Amino acid sequence: MAEWQRTHICGDLRDSHIGQTATLTGWVLTTRNYGNQVFVDLRDRYGLTQVVFEADDAELFAAANQVGREYCLSVTGQVRKRLPGKERTDIATGLVELQATTLRVLNACPPANLKFSVTEFPDEEVANEELRLQYRYLDLRRRSIQQVLSLRHRMNKVIRDYMDANAFLEIETPLLGKSTPEGARDYLVPSRVFPGEFFALPQSPQLYKQLMMVAGYDRYFQIARCLRDEDLRADRQPEFTQLDVEMSFVERDDVLTLMEGLVADLFRVCHGITIPTPFPRLQYAEVMRKFGSDKPDLRFGMEIVDVTELAGESEFKVFQDAIAAGNIVRALNAKGAASKFSNTALKPGGELPKFVEQYKAKGLAWMKFEGGKFVSSIEKFFPEALKAKLQERLGVEEGDLVLFVADKESIVCDALGALRSHLGTALKLYTNWWDEKATHDAAEDDKKKAAEKKGQKYSATPFAVRPEHFAFAWVVDFPMFGFDEEEQRWVALHHPFTSPRDEDVDRLESEPGTVKAKAYDLVLNGYEVGGGSIRIHRPDVQSRVFSMLGMTLDDARAKFGFLLDALQSGAPPHGGIALGLDRFCMMLAGTSNIRDVIAFPKNQKARDLMTGAPAVVEPRQLRDLGIKLS
Ligand code: AMO
Ligand code: AMP
Repeated sequence: MAEWQRTHICGDLRDSHIGQTATLTGWVLTTRNYGNQVFVDLRDRYGLTQVVFEADDAELFAAANQVGREYCLSVTGQVRKRLPGKERTDIATGLVELQATTLRVLNACPPANLKFSVTEFPDEEVANEELRLQYRYLDLRRRSIQQVLSLRHRMNKVIRDYMDANAFLEIETPLLGKSTPEGARDYLVPSRVFPGEFFALPQSPQLYKQLMMVAGYDRYFQIARCLRDEDLRADRQPEFTQLDVEMSFVERDDVLTLMEGLVADLFRVCHGITIPTPFPRLQYAEVMRKFGSDKPDLRFGMEIVDVTELAGESEFKVFQDAIAAGNIVRALNAKGAASKFSNTALKPGGELPKFVEQYKAKGLAWMKFEGGKFVSSIEKFFPEALKAKLQERLGVEEGDLVLFVADKESIVCDALGALRSHLGTALKLYTNWWDEKATHDAAEDDKKKAAEKKGQKYSATPFAVRPEHFAFAWVVDFPMFGFDEEEQRWVALHHPFTSPRDEDVDRLESEPGTVKAKAYDLVLNGYEVGGGSIRIHRPDVQSRVFSMLGMTLDDARAKFGFLLDALQSGAPPHGGIALGLDRFCMMLAGTSNIRDVIAFPKNQKARDLMTGAPAVVEPRQLRDLGIKLS
């Protein structure tokens, strides 16, 4: 071992090491000069140790004074007890310090290269995200990111152990392949050997995993990178990771039960809690009606209620006209919220109507229930008996606020679904566990400070997540097709390889809008964290579905001939699922920003700010590929 190499990691040293010689390597978190002593907090991903340089060794002391934040050091010295009163209870090495005898600067980090402060002291603000992404290698030194990436490692390990224990094989599928339609644009890779021809990076390994089933590998999984060129959101990346799973000879519930077991294991290992299984299985039609979304946040109620019939009995022209045009009226009762929103906030142009207008609603009608009666600009259009019915239907009590949207069903669902989520947050009907943790930690910090002031002992109560922080559900029985108004054609709601329910196959062509699919989504706290289906394994049904999606026989053969042939080569019944691991990790780690759980994420414009990718390439590279830029 070379002299500079470490004998211990920065989280190792305890009072049992006192008197021993140790060499530590790590990065400088802080330096403090007290005239006759320099203190350096040295850290690595395992912990932090206080290193002391005494002034009596003038040369060493001078060298220590040159050291700055984020320098990479090797320090040899003696482990000694900290001065009484200087012990730290919040770190494992808090009883001791290393009295340095040798300092080796392995590498400097000149202040000009330190674009932001890497520490995470509570009073230090975290630098803005764009800057942190640009110098991600510094940002990744932050303790909280190191913890998240360790958690992500743990998650992958639990997955591999669980899948292995259940007889699944981990099999890699190509990155350079043929486009599989998952609803987004492909990232294309030009072929040099075949000018004018392109590979598509996989939006998912969907077709390969189905072909593995045909080949008899009846339990496949892969922690697979998927690439989709789509508009980004807080929970989307152009490049993301799925736990991709496929099984033969299964029905829907076999897949769901397998996944429930995995989720339970993940929460047991990562958080030490028992998540109750099985998860509720909710009909797509029911969740759309009650929550206006196919990924409802079930941590709170406030269900949407259909009041078309009652609204039709009123004299309110907006409702009458809507119903005459074949539209519907739905409402939600925001319990106790009457006093939270002024009439101005509810009037056209006010906060809530403006909110629903983003979802194409034409307006937001409202009624407060105050002083034992409805108070509203439209209350006069509802006779007393009708008001009583409305009150009963919506369970209205003193102080409640009822909000109505009249429109076609898709707009009503979008608008009231989004409004429900918005009010859930605004009225604090639920809290994210990480917000609860922040409040808890701040309170603990206050307690600690108060105890220290009084010279009393303080022992921290750590925050513990609880099973009720996580509301899981399966959404099942999705429609097979949705109608794309713009393109005036049917599109697959999941993907074209999803099987229709057996009892619906006959209606594929005659009533496509009523056909339900053997598809399922896993939702958690308002996020879609997984999706899958039982697949079509009959070539005739697959051809009919392609044709419903507007593909001619020739198109279908050109694009998916290999699949149709495979289905005619003894394909077993099969099905599977993919969990979005980035989203899942977000929920485990406690963040609503997907970039927090990815080592090198793209920003919201799908750019890698550190390397600058995407970037222009050499003209010669384009020439080789036969590509001309216009
Ligand atoms: P699907 O398209 O529903 O299904 O994807 C599965 C899960 O992947 C996650 N996900 C994403 N996460 C981050 N960024 C994105 N851009 C992104 N897109 C999707 C979601 C989603 O639930 N081949 C099918 C699976 C199957 O049928 O087995 C598929 O890819 O959490
Ligand atoms: P108006 O008759 O346009 O003044 O609207 C009266 C009330 O009905 C206002 O509070 C509007 O926001 C609301 N409103 C208008 N259109 C709709 C609609 N389609 N659904 C629900 N409320 C609406």
